Amino acid sequence: MTTHDKEGNSDSPRPISNGMDRIVSLAKRRGFIYPGSEIYGGLSGTWDWGPYGVELKNNVKNLWWRMFVQERDDMCGLDAAILMNPKAWEASGHTKTFADPLVVCDKCKKQFRTDQVDLSGKEDGSTPCPECGGELSPVLSFNLMFKTAVGAGGDALTAYLRPETAGGIFVNFKNVVDSLHPKLPFGIAQIGKAFRNEIAPRDFVFRAREFEQMEIEYFVRPTEWEQAFEAWRENVHAFNDAIGIPRSSVHELEVAPEDRAHYSERTIDFEFDFPFGRKELYGLAYRTDFDLKAHMESSGVNLEYLDDSTSDKFIPHVIEPSFGVDRTVLALLSSVYTEDELGGETRTYLKFNKVVAPIKAAVFPLLKNKPQLVEKAREVYMMLKKQVPQIMWDDNGNIGKRYRRQDEIGTPLCITIDFDTLENDTVTVRNRDSGEQVREPITNLISVI
Ligand code: GAP
Repeated sequence: MTTHDKEGNSDSPRPISNGMDRIVSLAKRRGFIYPGSEIYGGLSGTWDWGPYGVELKNNVKNLWWRMFVQERDDMCGLDAAILMNPKAWEASGHTKTFADPLVVCDKCKKQFRTDQVDLSGKEDGSTPCPECGGELSPVLSFNLMFKTAVGAGGDALTAYLRPETAGGIFVNFKNVVDSLHPKLPFGIAQIGKAFRNEIAPRDFVFRAREFEQMEIEYFVRPTEWEQAFEAWRENVHAFNDAIGIPRSSVHELEVAPEDRAHYSERTIDFEFDFPFGRKELYGLAYRTDFDLKAHMESSGVNLEYLDDSTSDKFIPHVIEPSFGVDRTVLALLSSVYTEDELGGETRTYLKFNKVVAPIKAAVFPLLKNKPQLVEKAREVYMMLKKQVPQIMWDDNGNIGKRYRRQDEIGTPLCITIDFDTLENDTVTVRNRDSGEQVREPITNLISVI
């Protein structure tokens, strides 16, 4: 017997695209994402990842790491400190230029990024606040880096929470070259937290003040940057394919020179059709030799690369694919959130593919007050869990409720142990997408999952 997985069939119900509030509500109700420090009224721009959210996020990060680090022989990983010597951020230009233009209302004191307000002004030249009609200030520059003090008292050093993970990679370039002697082209990857004091955090985890990035600095000979840029462009789409973000929802935007970051000579934004509009999901930038050169000048340490084959010494150029973990998960949730009718009832489910699904299968005893069923179900559960850790036990409520709950978590398969199981060691396996149930021998379950 086989399962009836209809994933990818054109007759499957289509994910809805305008239900941000429903996604936020499901994410909280089902333990994916909670508002940060909620019992104290929250903290704007922060989110806490619940039991299923953390599994989902780990699956996304693990897949990225496997695809871009472990399965390649031109890549290696790194986990650098979040706090860095502030000179690194001076050299990279972040202390001067990592800023958003901002205006402040003189009456309600609200702050707005300049792209959030109409600054064309009234006839007298003043600009009214969109909230209260008060007058907005001239445009100010607001640095987005969080400052902190390292050490105590007068000796404390002003440092910053890193605004991008890339910085830790550049300052370790020489260490990695000295340890591994990699041949160009090669890349260093890192996954970790980044912090930005966003003026207007919004749209759920889309624009947060604390978030995670998955970044690669791919070092190339200066003449080879275009080739590497094109290869990484395709790799970005391949990653989306693997996690289940459809190509039809992702659009490339060639960023105009005046809109590019200070270090970039070419940038493509990969935009996604979020429920609140088409917005940046990832970026791909050609950072030239800007960063290594700046760190070399500022630190006085030689960051040139010696090419053994030609004996040339030069500063490699860099292609940087940069993925936001939180935006990836949000794009994924938006892609898989589905409503359809099953058995005459409307239901909601998350149509995750098996790789990213936080729970791969749930095991139920048909009735929780029948010790023989519970004992057999525990046996099956423990056997499966040893081989596939993301298996869940569920005996709460009736079977219908358990199916609804697992559908909302996005669990692809539900396995029920019933009275027939006690007779013939078979179970029912219910497919999330079709709702169809088939009987399977227990011995087949691992291959089915
Ligand atoms: N190192 C390059 C860099 O940081 P970026 O475009 O500023 O470039 C890269 O950020 C990615 O990080 C974005 O495409 C997005 O996925 C994510 N990101 C940036 N700011 C974010 C925020 N405030 N909240 C959530 N994700 C964010």
